[in-house]
Amino acid sequence: MGLLDGKVVIVTGAGRGIGRGEALECSAQGAAVVVAEFDADAGEAVAKEIVAAGGRAVAASGDVADAEVANRLVSTAVSEFGQLDALVNNAGILRDRTIAKLSDDDWDAVIRVHLRGHFLPTRAAVQYWKDAKRPGHVVSTASTSGLLGNFGQTNYGAAKAGIAAFSTIVAMEGARGGITSNAIAPTALTRMTLDLMPQEFRDKHDASVAAGEFDFFAPENIAPLVAFLCSDASAHISGKVFGVQGDSIEIFQPFTSVAEVTNGGKKWDPEDIPGRIDELFSASGIPAGAENMMAKMRYQILAEH
Ligand SMILES: NC(=O)c1ccc[n+]([C@@H]2O[C@H](COP(=O)([O-])OP(=O)(O)OC[C@H]3O[C@@H](n4cnc5c(N)ncnc54)[C@H](O)[C@@H]3O)[C@@H](O)[C@H]2O)c1
Repeated sequence: MGLLDGKVVIVTGAGRGIGRGEALECSAQGAAVVVAEFDADAGEAVAKEIVAAGGRAVAASGDVADAEVANRLVSTAVSEFGQLDALVNNAGILRDRTIAKLSDDDWDAVIRVHLRGHFLPTRAAVQYWKDAKRPGHVVSTASTSGLLGNFGQTNYGAAKAGIAAFSTIVAMEGARGGITSNAIAPTALTRMTLDLMPQEFRDKHDASVAAGEFDFFAPENIAPLVAFLCSDASAHISGKVFGVQGDSIEIFQPFTSVAEVTNGGKKWDPEDIPGRIDELFSASGIPAGAENMMAKMRYQILAEH
């Protein structure tokens, strides 16, 4: 018995990395999987791996930010496996540059793949669930780069913070129909992140894995939470953003107002603001200047691992 016995799940960007792990875990938990992937060979290989292990899977190649492809994912789930129960939006790319050097193309490509690549499959899935009067689960992929900010990633961070907001609003809209929507902010060593790590870190990591220690950064570590969020066991959980890496599952608090100054029922005069704004910083403990929120993460990739 698995958490997803008899269920049908679409995983986008499932040809490698985190998405591959999610597709394999959903299959291991009993689901039939639509392996959605831009790189057709990689997608076919994962679908074959699932079938060879006794599972049910079909590869669907194409760009998930293309409406025809996104719609086809849902119709493929229904035509191949009879229904759709969950959608995992995972496909993504990086084009890191600091803002002054960021090209129009690198901005557009990242925003398109992440935001449009989440919007289109989610719209198709929600339309299907509403028409079929069925419950459903959406899991979207945000990032600490969006929730906290990360140097050189205005495009990616903006997209990922947008995904967290998108997911929260899908949750609000889906609540009456039994449609849940949650987001994850994962961390793993994959093609996307490996090149960003210093050689010293990679050597240390490879040595600890060779020594048989738990691989904290294996992309497969993300999948158990995602399989759970695709299942009816999580039907009471929606609109949340979870951090996930290694053996850790965290919950993020949404943006929350933590201090206020008011002006006695009158419109503010800009000249009065300098004398009052510091009240916000002293009441909240938030510093006035730019902060590196990544440095305050519960675990530090480079310091501890
Ligand atoms: N690896 C991390 O530490 C990390 C951290 C935060 C967020 N993420 C997010 O997790 C997700 C998976 O990342 P990963 O690290 O496994 O990366 P990856 O590069 O290993 O895998 C991403 C997969 O998505 C596919 N893809 C990209 N654009 C696509 C498109 N338009 N249509 C269909 N498929 C497409 C790629 O071909 C690739 O197979 C991404 O959304 C990424 O932003 C990863």
